[in-house]
Amino acid sequence: MRIIDLRSDTMTQPTETMRRAMAEAEVGDDVFGEDPTINRLEEMAAERLGKEAALFVSSGTMGNLVSQLAHCGRGDEIIIGSQSHTFLAEQGGSAAVGGIHPRTVPNQPDGKLDLEDIEFAIRDDNIHFSRTRLIILENTNNSCNGYPLDVDYMQSVGVLARRHGLKVHVDGARIFNAAVALNVNPKSLTAEADSVSFCLSKGLAAPVGSVVCGTQDFINEARRARKVLGGGMRQAGVLAAAGIVALNEMVNRLADDHAHARKLAEGLAEMKGLNIDPDGIKTNIVYFETRREDLPAIEIERHLNAEGIKISAFGPRRLRAVTHYHISAEDIEFTLGVFSKILK
Ligand SMILES: Cc1ncc(COP(=O)(O)O)c(C=O)c1O
Repeated sequence: MRIIDLRSDTMTQPTETMRRAMAEAEVGDDVFGEDPTINRLEEMAAERLGKEAALFVSSGTMGNLVSQLAHCGRGDEIIIGSQSHTFLAEQGGSAAVGGIHPRTVPNQPDGKLDLEDIEFAIRDDNIHFSRTRLIILENTNNSCNGYPLDVDYMQSVGVLARRHGLKVHVDGARIFNAAVALNVNPKSLTAEADSVSFCLSKGLAAPVGSVVCGTQDFINEARRARKVLGGGMRQAGVLAAAGIVALNEMVNRLADDHAHARKLAEGLAEMKGLNIDPDGIKTNIVYFETRREDLPAIEIERHLNAEGIKISAFGPRRLRAVTHYHISAEDIEFTLGVFSKILK
Protein backbone atom coordinates (compact mmCIF):
# COMPACT_ATOMS: atom_id res chain seq x y z
CA MET A 1 0.00 0.00 0.00
CA ARG A 2 1.16 3.55 -0.73
CA ILE A 3 2.01 5.18 2.62
CA ILE A 4 1.67 8.94 3.03
CA ASP A 5 3.14 9.85 6.39
CA LEU A 6 1.93 13.26 7.52
CA ARG A 7 2.52 12.74 11.25
CA SER A 8 5.62 14.91 11.41
CA ASP A 9 8.51 16.34 9.42
CA THR A 10 10.69 14.18 11.69
CA MET A 11 9.72 11.28 9.41
CA THR A 12 12.11 12.50 6.73
CA GLN A 13 14.83 10.14 5.56
CA PRO A 14 18.36 11.32 4.75
CA THR A 15 18.94 12.08 1.07
CA GLU A 16 21.43 10.16 -1.09
CA THR A 17 23.81 13.11 -0.90
CA MET A 18 23.62 13.03 2.89
CA ARG A 19 24.31 9.31 3.02
CA ARG A 20 27.37 9.75 0.80
CA ALA A 21 28.62 12.70 2.84
CA MET A 22 28.18 10.66 6.03
CA ALA A 23 30.14 7.72 4.64
CA GLU A 24 32.98 9.97 3.54
CA ALA A 25 33.06 12.35 6.52
CA GLU A 26 36.41 13.26 8.01
CA VAL A 27 36.11 12.79 11.78
CA GLY A 28 37.93 13.26 15.09
CA ASP A 29 37.22 13.40 18.82
CA ASP A 30 34.72 16.22 19.27
CA VAL A 31 35.13 16.32 23.06
CA PHE A 32 38.64 17.55 22.25
CA GLY A 33 37.16 19.88 19.61
CA GLU A 34 38.93 17.84 16.94
CA ASP A 35 36.15 16.70 14.64
CA PRO A 36 36.66 18.79 11.50
CA THR A 37 33.19 18.05 10.12
CA ILE A 38 31.45 19.11 13.33
CA ASN A 39 33.61 22.21 13.49
CA ARG A 40 32.60 23.05 9.91
CA LEU A 41 28.90 22.53 10.65
CA GLU A 42 29.14 24.73 13.76
CA GLU A 43 30.90 27.50 11.81
CA MET A 44 28.31 27.32 9.05
CA ALA A 45 25.39 27.38 11.51
CA ALA A 46 26.79 30.35 13.43
CA GLU A 47 27.33 32.23 10.18
CA ARG A 48 23.81 31.45 8.89
CA LEU A 49 22.22 32.80 12.05
CA GLY A 50 24.59 35.72 12.56
CA LYS A 51 26.13 34.47 15.81
CA GLU A 52 29.73 34.13 17.03
CA ALA A 53 29.72 30.41 17.72
CA ALA A 54 27.64 27.24 17.66
CA LEU A 55 27.34 23.79 19.24
CA PHE A 56 26.12 20.55 17.67
CA VAL A 57 23.73 18.67 19.97
CA SER A 58 21.75 15.48 19.65
CA SER A 59 18.23 16.94 19.48
CA GLY A 60 16.00 19.98 19.75
CA THR A 61 15.22 19.05 23.33
CA MET A 62 18.91 19.00 24.22
CA GLY A 63 19.44 22.30 22.39
CA ASN A 64 16.73 24.00 24.43
CA LEU A 65 17.90 22.46 27.69
CA VAL A 66 21.60 23.31 27.34
CA SER A 67 20.57 26.86 26.39
CA GLN A 68 18.47 27.23 29.52
CA LEU A 69 21.24 25.73 31.67
CA ALA A 70 23.72 28.15 30.15
CA HIS A 71 21.51 31.20 30.76
CA CYS A 72 19.96 30.33 34.13
CA GLY A 73 20.88 29.07 37.58
CA ARG A 74 18.77 27.05 39.99
CA GLY A 75 15.71 28.97 41.18
CA ASP A 76 15.80 31.40 38.26
CA GLU A 77 12.63 31.90 36.26
CA ILE A 78 11.96 31.75 32.55
CA ILE A 79 9.01 33.32 30.73
CA ILE A 80 7.66 30.84 28.25
CA GLY A 81 4.59 30.25 26.07
CA SER A 82 1.92 28.00 27.58
CA GLN A 83 1.69 26.22 24.21
CA SER A 84 5.42 26.01 23.60
CA HIS A 85 7.18 22.74 22.91
CA THR A 86 9.75 23.43 25.63
CA PHE A 87 7.03 23.84 28.24
CA LEU A 88 4.69 21.10 27.03
CA ALA A 89 6.78 18.37 25.49
CA GLU A 90 10.32 18.30 26.89
CA GLN A 91 9.54 16.54 30.17
CA GLY A 92 9.84 19.77 32.13
CA GLY A 93 13.61 19.39 31.75
CA SER A 94 14.16 23.01 32.82
CA ALA A 95 12.75 22.20 36.27
CA ALA A 96 13.70 18.52 36.45
CA VAL A 97 17.32 18.97 35.48
CA GLY A 98 18.06 22.68 35.90
CA GLY A 99 15.91 23.71 38.87
CA ILE A 100 14.61 26.46 36.60
CA HIS A 101 11.09 27.71 37.26
CA PRO A 102 8.79 28.21 34.24
CA ARG A 103 6.38 31.16 34.26
CA THR A 104 3.89 30.63 31.45
CA VAL A 105 2.27 33.32 29.33
CA PRO A 106 -0.53 32.37 26.91
CA ASN A 107 0.43 31.97 23.26
CA GLN A 108 -1.80 34.04 20.98
CA PRO A 109 -3.32 32.14 18.02
CA ASP A 110 -0.36 33.31 15.89
CA GLY A 111 2.13 31.92 18.41
CA LYS A 112 3.19 35.30 19.80
CA LEU A 113 3.44 36.11 23.47
CA ASP A 114 1.69 39.42 24.03
CA LEU A 115 4.32 42.02 24.96
CA GLU A 116 2.18 43.27 27.87
CA ASP A 117 1.82 39.73 29.17
CA ILE A 118 5.58 39.30 29.04
CA GLU A 119 6.17 42.58 30.82
CA PHE A 120 3.59 41.71 33.47
CA ALA A 121 5.30 38.36 34.10
CA ILE A 122 8.74 39.89 34.75
CA ARG A 123 9.48 39.73 38.48
CA ASP A 124 10.27 42.72 40.66
CA ASP A 125 13.29 42.55 42.92
CA ASN A 126 11.52 41.11 45.97
CA ILE A 127 12.65 38.51 48.47
CA HIS A 128 9.50 36.46 47.79
CA PHE A 129 10.15 36.05 44.09
CA SER A 130 12.42 34.02 41.90
CA ARG A 131 14.54 36.07 39.52
CA THR A 132 13.42 36.35 35.91
CA ARG A 133 16.37 35.58 33.63
CA LEU A 134 15.15 34.45 30.24
CA ILE A 135 12.33 34.75 27.71
CA ILE A 136 11.84 31.80 25.35
CA LEU A 137 10.15 32.24 21.98
CA GLU A 138 9.31 29.45 19.54
CA ASN A 139 9.67 30.21 15.83
CA THR A 140 7.84 28.70 14.05
CA ASN A 141 5.37 27.82 16.74
CA ASN A 142 4.49 24.15 16.40
CA SER A 143 1.20 24.14 18.36
CA CYS A 144 -0.04 27.34 16.72
CA ASN A 145 -0.19 26.02 13.13
CA GLY A 146 3.55 26.43 12.63
CA TYR A 147 3.04 30.18 12.59
CA PRO A 148 6.21 32.15 11.83
CA LEU A 149 7.01 35.06 14.17
CA ASP A 150 8.01 38.08 12.08
CA VAL A 151 11.12 40.25 12.30
CA ASP A 152 9.33 43.20 13.97
CA TYR A 153 7.95 41.01 16.70
CA MET A 154 11.28 39.26 17.33
CA GLN A 155 12.94 42.68 17.59
CA SER A 156 10.29 44.03 19.97
CA VAL A 157 10.80 41.14 22.36
CA GLY A 158 14.57 41.66 22.19
CA VAL A 159 14.19 45.36 23.02
CA LEU A 160 11.83 44.57 25.90
CA ALA A 161 14.19 41.90 27.24
CA ARG A 162 17.18 44.22 27.17
CA ARG A 163 15.24 46.96 28.91
CA HIS A 164 14.77 44.52 31.80
CA GLY A 165 18.23 42.95 31.66
CA LEU A 166 16.84 39.61 30.43
CA LYS A 167 18.14 37.14 27.84
CA VAL A 168 16.13 35.75 24.91
CA HIS A 169 16.36 32.17 23.67
CA VAL A 170 14.66 31.17 20.44
CA ASP A 171 13.50 27.59 20.03
CA GLY A 172 14.01 27.77 16.30
CA ALA A 173 13.46 24.08 15.65
CA ARG A 174 11.90 25.32 12.38
CA ILE A 175 13.56 28.75 12.08
CA PHE A 176 14.38 28.10 8.42
CA ASN A 177 10.69 27.40 7.73
CA ALA A 178 9.97 30.79 9.29
CA ALA A 179 12.63 32.54 7.21
CA VAL A 180 11.45 30.93 3.97
CA ALA A 181 7.77 31.66 4.70
CA LEU A 182 8.50 35.31 5.55
CA ASN A 183 11.04 35.62 2.75
CA VAL A 184 13.68 37.07 5.07
CA ASN A 185 17.27 36.23 5.95
CA PRO A 186 17.17 33.98 9.05
CA LYS A 187 19.74 36.32 10.64
CA SER A 188 17.09 39.03 10.82
CA LEU A 189 14.87 36.74 12.91
CA THR A 190 17.62 35.96 15.41
CA ALA A 191 19.47 39.29 15.52
CA GLU A 192 18.00 40.23 18.89
CA ALA A 193 18.23 36.74 20.40
CA ASP A 194 21.01 35.76 22.80
CA SER A 195 20.71 32.14 21.71
CA VAL A 196 18.87 30.09 19.14
CA SER A 197 18.59 26.37 18.57
CA PHE A 198 17.45 24.84 15.30
CA CYS A 199 16.80 21.27 14.17
CA LEU A 200 18.55 19.54 11.30
CA SER A 201 16.40 16.44 11.56
CA LYS A 202 12.96 17.87 10.85
CA GLY A 203 12.11 19.56 7.55
CA LEU A 204 15.81 19.70 6.64
CA ALA A 205 15.83 15.89 6.54
CA ALA A 206 19.12 15.11 8.29
CA PRO A 207 18.90 11.98 10.44
CA VAL A 208 20.19 13.42 13.73
CA GLY A 209 20.92 16.65 15.47
CA SER A 210 20.29 20.26 16.26
CA VAL A 211 22.60 23.24 16.54
CA VAL A 212 22.65 25.92 19.24
CA CYS A 213 24.08 29.33 18.32
CA GLY A 214 25.10 32.36 20.39
CA THR A 215 28.11 34.26 21.70
CA GLN A 216 31.34 32.38 22.30
CA ASP A 217 30.89 32.74 26.08
CA PHE A 218 27.38 31.34 25.89
CA ILE A 219 28.51 28.43 23.72
CA ASN A 220 31.32 27.63 26.21
CA GLU A 221 28.67 27.30 28.93
CA ALA A 222 26.32 25.33 26.67
CA ARG A 223 29.20 22.96 25.84
CA ARG A 224 29.73 22.29 29.55
CA ALA A 225 25.98 21.69 29.97
CA ARG A 226 25.96 19.30 27.01
CA LYS A 227 28.78 17.30 28.61
CA VAL A 228 27.03 16.88 31.97
CA LEU A 229 23.90 15.71 30.14
CA GLY A 230 25.98 12.97 28.54
CA GLY A 231 25.97 14.70 25.19
CA GLY A 232 29.72 14.90 24.61
CA MET A 233 30.11 13.02 21.36
CA ARG A 234 33.23 11.65 19.73
CA GLN A 235 33.45 11.01 15.96
CA ALA A 236 29.98 12.48 15.40
CA GLY A 237 31.14 14.17 12.21
CA VAL A 238 29.37 11.30 10.46
CA LEU A 239 26.16 12.96 11.70
CA ALA A 240 27.28 16.53 11.19
CA ALA A 241 28.10 15.72 7.56
CA ALA A 242 24.39 15.21 6.87
CA GLY A 243 23.69 18.48 8.67
CA ILE A 244 26.03 20.34 6.33
CA VAL A 245 24.16 18.94 3.33
CA ALA A 246 20.88 19.89 5.03
CA LEU A 247 21.98 23.52 5.37
CA ASN A 248 23.36 23.65 1.83
CA GLU A 249 20.59 21.88 -0.04
CA MET A 250 17.39 21.59 1.96
CA VAL A 251 16.50 25.10 3.10
CA ASN A 252 15.07 26.73 -0.02
CA ARG A 253 12.94 23.71 -0.90
CA LEU A 254 10.95 24.20 2.34
CA ALA A 255 8.79 26.53 0.22
CA ASP A 256 7.40 23.40 -1.49
CA ASP A 257 6.34 21.98 1.88
CA HIS A 258 4.57 25.23 2.68
CA ALA A 259 2.75 25.24 -0.66
CA HIS A 260 1.65 21.64 -0.09
CA ALA A 261 0.41 22.45 3.42
CA ARG A 262 -1.57 25.37 2.08
CA LYS A 263 -3.11 23.19 -0.64
CA LEU A 264 -4.06 20.59 1.93
CA ALA A 265 -5.61 23.27 4.16
CA GLU A 266 -7.60 24.75 1.28
CA GLY A 267 -8.92 21.32 0.35
CA LEU A 268 -9.86 20.48 3.94
CA ALA A 269 -11.61 23.85 4.34
CA GLU A 270 -14.02 22.88 1.56
CA MET A 271 -15.11 19.72 3.35
CA LYS A 272 -18.21 19.74 5.48
CA GLY A 273 -17.56 18.76 9.08
CA LEU A 274 -14.03 20.12 9.35
CA ASN A 275 -12.93 23.40 10.84
CA ILE A 276 -9.84 25.12 9.44
CA ASP A 277 -8.81 28.57 8.25
CA PRO A 278 -6.39 28.04 5.35
CA ASP A 279 -5.15 31.63 5.69
CA GLY A 280 -3.67 30.63 9.03
CA ILE A 281 -1.37 28.09 7.38
CA LYS A 282 1.94 29.81 6.63
CA THR A 283 4.44 26.96 6.87
CA ASN A 284 4.27 23.15 6.94
CA ILE A 285 2.02 22.40 9.93
CA VAL A 286 -1.73 22.05 9.46
CA TYR A 287 -4.00 21.74 12.49
CA PHE A 288 -7.72 21.31 11.96
CA GLU A 289 -10.76 20.19 13.93
CA THR A 290 -13.59 17.79 13.31
CA ARG A 291 -17.08 19.02 14.08
CA ARG A 292 -18.62 15.64 13.31
CA GLU A 293 -20.04 13.93 16.41
CA ASP A 294 -19.85 10.56 14.65
CA LEU A 295 -16.25 11.13 13.59
CA PRO A 296 -14.05 12.20 16.52
CA ALA A 297 -10.38 12.85 15.76
CA ILE A 298 -9.24 9.36 16.69
CA GLU A 299 -11.79 7.80 14.28
CA ILE A 300 -10.60 10.00 11.42
CA GLU A 301 -7.03 9.01 12.23
CA ARG A 302 -8.05 5.33 12.19
CA HIS A 303 -9.94 5.56 8.86
CA LEU A 304 -7.03 7.40 7.21
CA ASN A 305 -4.56 4.87 8.57
CA ALA A 306 -6.51 2.07 6.95
CA GLU A 307 -5.96 3.85 3.60
CA GLY A 308 -2.21 4.32 4.21
CA ILE A 309 -2.41 7.93 5.34
CA LYS A 310 -0.86 8.69 8.71
CA ILE A 311 -1.81 11.82 10.63
CA SER A 312 -2.01 12.57 14.36
CA ALA A 313 -5.09 13.09 16.54
CA PHE A 314 -4.60 15.50 19.43
CA GLY A 315 -7.50 15.19 21.87
CA PRO A 316 -11.13 14.60 20.90
CA ARG A 317 -11.39 17.07 17.99
CA ARG A 318 -7.96 18.26 16.91
CA LEU A 319 -5.79 16.67 14.22
CA ARG A 320 -2.43 17.58 12.74
CA ALA A 321 -0.83 16.95 9.37
CA VAL A 322 2.74 18.03 8.60
CA THR A 323 4.19 18.27 5.11
CA HIS A 324 7.83 17.51 4.36
CA TYR A 325 10.41 16.36 1.82
CA HIS A 326 8.66 13.06 1.04
CA ILE A 327 5.20 14.55 0.49
CA SER A 328 4.41 15.49 -3.10
CA ALA A 329 1.60 17.56 -4.63
CA GLU A 330 0.13 14.27 -5.81
CA ASP A 331 0.18 12.90 -2.25
CA ILE A 332 -1.85 15.91 -1.16
CA GLU A 333 -4.42 15.31 -3.94
CA PHE A 334 -4.65 11.66 -2.96
CA THR A 335 -5.02 12.54 0.74
CA LEU A 336 -7.82 14.99 0.01
CA GLY A 337 -9.59 12.33 -2.04
CA VAL A 338 -9.47 9.91 0.90
CA PHE A 339 -10.73 12.63 3.25
CA SER A 340 -13.78 13.29 1.13
CA LYS A 341 -14.50 9.57 0.99
CA ILE A 342 -14.31 9.26 4.80
CA LEU A 343 -16.36 12.38 5.46
CA LYS A 344 -19.16 11.41 3.04
C1 LIG B 1 9.17 23.51 18.24
C2 LIG B 1 9.94 22.31 18.68
N1 LIG B 1 10.96 22.47 19.53
C3 LIG B 1 11.71 21.44 19.95
C4 LIG B 1 11.44 20.16 19.52
C5 LIG B 1 12.25 19.03 20.07
O1 LIG B 1 13.06 18.43 19.10
P1 LIG B 1 13.59 16.93 19.32
O2 LIG B 1 12.43 16.04 19.06
O3 LIG B 1 14.68 16.83 18.30
O4 LIG B 1 14.09 16.81 20.70
C6 LIG B 1 10.38 19.94 18.64
C7 LIG B 1 10.08 18.57 18.16
O5 LIG B 1 9.13 18.32 17.46
C8 LIG B 1 9.60 21.04 18.21
O6 LIG B 1 8.57 20.89 17.38
